[in-house]
Amino acid sequence: MKAIILSGGKGTRLRPLTYTGAKQLVPVANKPILWYGIEAIVAAGITDIGIIISPETGEEVKNKTGNGDRFGAKISYILQDKPAGLAHAVKVAQPFLEDSPFLMYLGDNLVQSDLRLFCEHFKVRNLDALTLLCPVENPTAFGVAKVDADGKVLQLVEKPKVPPSNLALVGIYLFSTAVHHAIASIQPSARGELEITDAIQYLIDQPKQVEARQLEGWWLDTGKKDDLLEANRIILDTCLEAAVEGEVDENSQVIGRVQIGAGSKIINCTIRGPVTIGRDCHLENCFIGPYSSVANQVTLIDADLEHSVILQGAKVVGIQQRVVDSVIGQRAQLKVAPQRPKALRFMIGDDSQIELV
Ligand code: DAU
Repeated sequence: MKAIILSGGKGTRLRPLTYTGAKQLVPVANKPILWYGIEAIVAAGITDIGIIISPETGEEVKNKTGNGDRFGAKISYILQDKPAGLAHAVKVAQPFLEDSPFLMYLGDNLVQSDLRLFCEHFKVRNLDALTLLCPVENPTAFGVAKVDADGKVLQLVEKPKVPPSNLALVGIYLFSTAVHHAIASIQPSARGELEITDAIQYLIDQPKQVEARQLEGWWLDTGKKDDLLEANRIILDTCLEAAVEGEVDENSQVIGRVQIGAGSKIINCTIRGPVTIGRDCHLENCFIGPYSSVANQVTLIDADLEHSVILQGAKVVGIQQRVVDSVIGQRAQLKVAPQRPKALRFMIGDDSQIELV
């Protein structure tokens, strides 16, 4: 079996972070979202992986992720020239997939699930499509399935105004080669995309063997700021292992599960885990509270933060109040003068949000 990971698309929901990069590379607990998907696929025994990339962010995805050696996989990159839909991405990947059944993984999804069980079910039942479902509160934001008591899928609708159930399609699917004929037979939807839900509906109507399984672990669609913070919290809670490689001076206190990367200096700080701090950071006179991720080359001086994500190269200096529930983008700078500031001076990117609460 092969796998494809969809890492193209536009990523408008995580703006402004995604103006300068791919949304699938936004880190959760200092690791790109995309890499969690690759690791889950390799853990399921699939090592021949194609990653769909876009002309805008493809090079960045390629440079960061490489040829797959670090994951024990062989990664091929497949260029999709425009984001014309999930089924369009499968069409573009057909020469890579040849006549292999395959797993399709949406590169901006974070899922806690053993994909091996999912693959076994697909093989044992000799299916043409297997989807993963998860009950959600806002089904109108997803593809939604109606299933019978045996897990047979009766109907699928993409982002319905009136959802037939609360069961959303998680961004992981398994297909036999029958899906290629289905994709060749459907038309673009009203939003102009070739929808994978329409291709699966085509298979249901044939009728081909289409089933669904409910997801047992958690699922996070990392599309928005609060989802990203929640993903960060869950990953730090469940996966972080303590490891201090950087230098911590004797005036600092490191409590609980904390990771500090090589080359980082921690001076007169209190760090209360779970917290991850990347490489070559400078932290001085700070309190870093639980559920914070600080990427590489970050400077934090006289700062106090909690439940926040600070991306690579950012600087936060002299903030008296606690920074909470915040995401600070790459190379962003937040500085307050030591004396009470008389003026506020900003250079804020498009779509940024600043709240002084
Ligand atoms: O997250 C689950 C949902 O994902 C499902 O419930 C929906 O049925 C499914 O259509 C999809 O909806 P989204 O609106 O979240 O899809 P999005 O446009 O965000 O694309 C998902 C991933 O696929 C993302 O990593 C970008 C990539 N992509 C997307 C398109 C449209 C491509 O690589 N090529 C594309 O043409």
